[in-house]
Amino acid sequence: MRVIDEPPSVQRQCTSLRREGKTIGLVPTMGAFHEGHLSLMRSARAENDVVVVTIFVNPIQFGRGEDFDSYPRDLQGDLAQAERTGVDLVFTPSAEAIYPKGFQTYVDVIELTEGLCGASRPGHFRGVTTIVTKLFNLIRPHRAYFGQKDYQQSAVVRRLVDDLNLDLDIVLLPTVREADGLAMSSRNVRLTPPQRRAACVLHASLRLAEERVSVGERSAKAILDEIRAMIEAEPLARLDYVALCDPETLKPLDRIEGPTLLALAVRFGGTRLIDNSLIRLP
Ligand code: PAJ
Repeated sequence: MRVIDEPPSVQRQCTSLRREGKTIGLVPTMGAFHEGHLSLMRSARAENDVVVVTIFVNPIQFGRGEDFDSYPRDLQGDLAQAERTGVDLVFTPSAEAIYPKGFQTYVDVIELTEGLCGASRPGHFRGVTTIVTKLFNLIRPHRAYFGQKDYQQSAVVRRLVDDLNLDLDIVLLPTVREADGLAMSSRNVRLTPPQRRAACVLHASLRLAEERVSVGERSAKAILDEIRAMIEAEPLARLDYVALCDPETLKPLDRIEGPTLLALAVRFGGTRLIDNSLIRLP
């Protein structure tokens, strides 16, 4: 496994692999790997000649007062796990190499980024779409792998790829969960034991909504009120948002009449967790 930290060097390497006719699968990450990341790498391994993983805690997708400085980092552990998973190349650039002095070009997807996490984290998706575009240009993958855990991110990246005619496929893979249902996240390590127990309320909210829909409830307000009450009943949890929306446009829905995305974000002290479920009518 090669580890490269200079952008021109990774670009040269990937250009020559492409010229040799090799297919490239890219897994963009911010590191601190868990099974969610590894599941993306395994799919990339199965479907491509070469697997490239990027590890970069992207400063421009964190707002002021967010957890950029305290974001979990474990480069040595990550490299060992990537190697065991059959990754060929890991790109670990510095912030200075990615955003050198004078950098002033950003990529912005407008409407899809207005609601949900975009409303709570202004500028976040502009940071994501800018880094993802740069990684796509440096690596020029045939396929890039994303997790449903960050559903809005995957929808925004798909839009970006379509709108800018980028020549690659976006592959979306299911959320990997802990045994008790909590979605795996690099941020879970920061939860205290009582917060970790309280965090089950995210998954419980998704199950509650699925159960209500399965017995015939179609009013978004009725379901959202129940979820809000459930989260308010958990003293360590503070609701950021919960929404039922159209899985394509991400606009809020009043009634559940077809596939519906339930998305929520909840804070536990300084740690903000997200989860979602695509609800289908029975
Ligand atoms: P990060 O949070 O490290 O996630 C990297 C990828 O792993 C994303 O596609 C995310 O959706 C996926 N992932 C995270 N938790 C998952 C889980 N429990 N199950 C399945 N997949 C999961 O998302 C980012 O980094 C960044 O925003 C990035 C795209 C790298 C741009 O900086």
